[in-house]
Parts: sequence; structure tokens; C-alpha cells
Amino acid sequence: MNLYESVIRPLMFRLEAEQAHDLTLRGLRLAARALPNPAPDDYILAIEVLGLKFSNPFGLAAGFDKNAEVYNAMYKLGFGFSEVGTLTPQAQIGNPIPRIFRLPDHEAVINRLGFNNGGQVNAVERLRETPKRGLVGVNIGANKTATDWIADYVTGAARFKDLCDYLTINISSPNTPGLRDLQASAQLDELLERVMAVHLSCPVLVKIAPDIADEDIADIIAIAKKHRIAGLIVSNTTINRDGLVGETMASEQGGLSGRPLFQRSTDLLREISSQAGKDLVLIGVGGIASGDDAYEKILAGASLIQLYTAMIYQGPWAIKVMKRDLRDRLRVDGFARLADAVGAKK
Ligand code: FNR
Repeated sequence: MNLYESVIRPLMFRLEAEQAHDLTLRGLRLAARALPNPAPDDYILAIEVLGLKFSNPFGLAAGFDKNAEVYNAMYKLGFGFSEVGTLTPQAQIGNPIPRIFRLPDHEAVINRLGFNNGGQVNAVERLRETPKRGLVGVNIGANKTATDWIADYVTGAARFKDLCDYLTINISSPNTPGLRDLQASAQLDELLERVMAVHLSCPVLVKIAPDIADEDIADIIAIAKKHRIAGLIVSNTTINRDGLVGETMASEQGGLSGRPLFQRSTDLLREISSQAGKDLVLIGVGGIASGDDAYEKILAGASLIQLYTAMIYQGPWAIKVMKRDLRDRLRVDGFARLADAVGAKK
């Protein structure tokens, strides 16, 4: 057991989940400058996709650094990239607290935050004032009360188009009622048409839900390709509660993340990879808690991966161990570079 699991986690878990998160962010903000630069990554972990050079494929998933405050601290902790947001045009308080629930027996979390964030204008300022040391994607969404949700995505795209390394269109949060309907063909087509008319200089990705029906996959891929979307992020949290039998928290509303999400999100990733071919870059997210999990996502077709919930259970230092273990798996299996393993087992 390491210091995080023996001392820090028990203390953190005495706090309400959101208080613990705020405390972590405060610590990271303070530590950002003092932290040393990360050790250089093994060359086997490097990958060039989306027109960007990643020194390792591990990214911080959206929702941890909603307001773009700690991306440089995460870089120093060893992440290959960070995704900030979800950011909406106007600041928004989200749903009533409590709205984050830990499920330690399952190394899982249920959240129904509802896009609480300080708004895009503040984040734009921070991104301008604090030069990024690593690669940073910006994840955008719509305000709950907006009358034209697509217009909110256009606003976000215009605001961040020159400030991020990639832009994520998040249409998969289960916590803004109706938002996920934007994944339906006609709406997705209109959304991407209008967002791409902004002429962004960075690649655009779409983040999808693990709960989409298998028969909708082909349409999503076709529409993404039609609008020259660079890739898909698979996936957001799930509203499914399979595998949580006897769990008292299972009835809490919201999106489930962590271990119980691993299988479904990886199966969906594999299916999308086999249908989409090489035209879409895939970022695999959902339940990654080890180097082996990351490896499985890569074999299933992910060029990059992201995680959030595992950090709650293992601490931000876990990334180091995962990178080492992934490196070892690649070597043992005879891959010269990470890119060769992408989609190697479909
Ligand atoms: C999230 N996630 C998320 N995703 C997103 O696109 N925008 C967001 O604002 C948030 N917010 C958020 C808050 C909390 C507390 C959690 C746990 C998750 C989803 C996240 O980015 C990721 O897709 C899922 O959590 C699955 O990955 P993990 O957590 O299983 O590694």
C-alpha cells in the first residue's frame, strides 16, 4: 500500500466527495510551480496523432479540471495531455449538492454535477495568461437553459479555436436532460455543420455516450467523417447500472464511471474502430485503472486514452505506474512503437 492509499485516501474519503475534489484542486494549484518537470517518457510510449506529438498516450479526462486551472500541474504529474471542461458559454452552478457519490466496492463514482463551471470567458483568460506546458484539449457543452443548444457549441468553438490543441464537442453528458439527443443523426449533422463552419485551426473530436444503441454507430461514424471530424472520444459515463447488484448507491441518478464502465466502453471502442477504419482517431476512456487496462483499450483501437475515476482511488501518482506497465506490455509483446499496437486486437 502506498502513501496515497494508506494515508491520503482515508482522509479524503472522510470528506464529502466534492469537498475532497476542491481540496485536491487547491493543492494542485499551489503545487503547480513547485512540482518538478516530469521524467522524460520512454520513446515507445510516444505517438503522433491529430497532427500532434504526444510523449505518452495518457490523458486527463474531462471533468477533473473543469475550469482550466491545473493543466500544467497534470503535465508535471506525467500526463501526456489534459482535457479541460466541460465549459459552457455562461457560468453555471449545476445540480444541488450532493451530486458526486463514491462506490468504493466497485472503484466507481456516480456523478450528476450538471456542467457546473465558471464559464468560458474565465477559462479563455486563464489559457491566455498561463502558457500550456503540455497538450491541452478543451471540452465544450451547452448551458442547460439555452434556447438553441447548437448555438452554444458554435460559441464555444469560436472562443477556443486558437487556444487549444484540440476541441471536444461533448454531447454525451447524462446530466443535462435531453443533451444526449444531439447524438441522433439529424441533430448531429446540423451540430457538426454549424460548428465546423467556424473554421477551427485545431482538430475537433466528438465525445459519445456508452449507452448509444449499436445500430446507431454506423450513422455517427458516417456523419463524423462527412464533416471531417478528427476523432471520437469513447466514452462518457453510463446511465446503466449492470453489475452493481446490492450497491446502495446504485439508485443515485447520474453517470457511472470507473471499473464497471470498462467493459462496455471498451466493447464500443472496438466496434467503432472496426467500423471506422483509420479515418477517425479514437480516444479510449472508461474504467482505466492500470497499464493493462490502457493496453486493452489501445489493442481495441485507441490511439490515446484518458482517465479520471482511477485517480480518485489511486491518487494522481498512479499515472507513473500505469506508464511503466504499459511500456513493459508493449515490449513483451514485441511492439516497437505504441502506434503499432493501436487496433492490433479487434
Ligand atoms: C466526469 N466526466 C465528464 N466528461 C465530460 O465530457 N465533461 C465533464 O464535465 C465531465 N465531468 C465529470 C465529472 C466527474 C466527477 C466524473 C467522475 C466524470 C466523464 C469523464 O471524462 C470520463 O468520460 C468518465 O468518467 C469515464 O472515465 P473514468 O472516470 O472511468 O476513467
